[in-house]
Amino acid sequence: MKWNFEGKTILITGGASGIGLKIATDMAENGANVAIIDLNQEMGNEAVEKLKAITNKEILFFHGSVSDKVFVDASVDAIFNKIGDIDFLVNCAGILRDFLVSRFDEAKWDLTMEVNLKGAAICSQAVVTKWVNLSRAKAKEKGEKYLPTLDNKPRVVIHVASLAAEGNAGQLAYSASKAGVIGMTLTMAKELARYNIRTHALKPTLIETPIIGNLLKKDDGKFRSYYEGRIPFGIGKTSYVSDPVCFLCSEGGYFMNGAIIPINGGKMDGL
Ligand SMILES: NC(=O)c1ccc[n+]([C@@H]2O[C@H](COP(=O)([O-])OP(=O)(O)OC[C@H]3O[C@@H](n4cnc5c(N)ncnc54)[C@H](O)[C@@H]3O)[C@@H](O)[C@H]2O)c1
Repeated sequence: MKWNFEGKTILITGGASGIGLKIATDMAENGANVAIIDLNQEMGNEAVEKLKAITNKEILFFHGSVSDKVFVDASVDAIFNKIGDIDFLVNCAGILRDFLVSRFDEAKWDLTMEVNLKGAAICSQAVVTKWVNLSRAKAKEKGEKYLPTLDNKPRVVIHVASLAAEGNAGQLAYSASKAGVIGMTLTMAKELARYNIRTHALKPTLIETPIIGNLLKKDDGKFRSYYEGRIPFGIGKTSYVSDPVCFLCSEGGYFMNGAIIPINGGKMDGL
């Protein structure tokens, strides 16, 4: 066991696959209860089976879209009823719909914003509203407006953005959605610190997961060689994103807020 998340609960969106599933697995292996929101029912059910095989803690799966506010609010209510308070929220659900500015595609633009940006906002509001209300109720008991942060339970929101937020040819909507996520992160970090809530964003480069489809298989492996050559430390693994998430949720991350962390494989000039 690398970390100690005994007694903690994480809600992870997009937790049925790729980076989200790795974070869910690491959290479960290190003692946390895990709740997943994901649009892919089959993969969500498989994830539950996999996680239940490694832990006797609570594992919950809610099938639906992060952009459906009624569904997300109901899912968060259900987690509070079944497990209790959430400690960490990781907004990891995301989609990739690539196009150039000269080939602007309104449907792809809207869907990308709907999932990557609005979805992260909807999930954040659902969880953060609970946290703020809990904090205010405790402060009221003490006759205070805000509970001193030291009397308050530390909580963390992590958005999985992307290095594409710095711009990447062919990813107009995706990069804009992820840049939006970073702006949202900094705003939440400023708004929520008084409630002892930390908000961060991670900006990974290329990580080998289902979201990139057959990109690395294209042209008899020439694409793989191209990306291996472009990123100094090579193509990323999901653990390179999960490990920083675990750190930020651990006691070691206590004093950090509003961190925008590049997970760049050593590449200093974008993707
Ligand atoms: N893989 C990469 O190279 C890379 C790089 C930078 C950032 N990211 C980001 O990491 C996050 C995770 O991606 P991944 O690489 O693990 O891909 P993935 O496709 O393996 O996982 C994405 C998950 O999000 C779920 N999802 C999609 N739309 C949803 C919706 N509307 N509601 C709920 N769930 C939904 C999918 O079902 C899937 O389980 C994404 O936000 C992605 O943009 C990935």
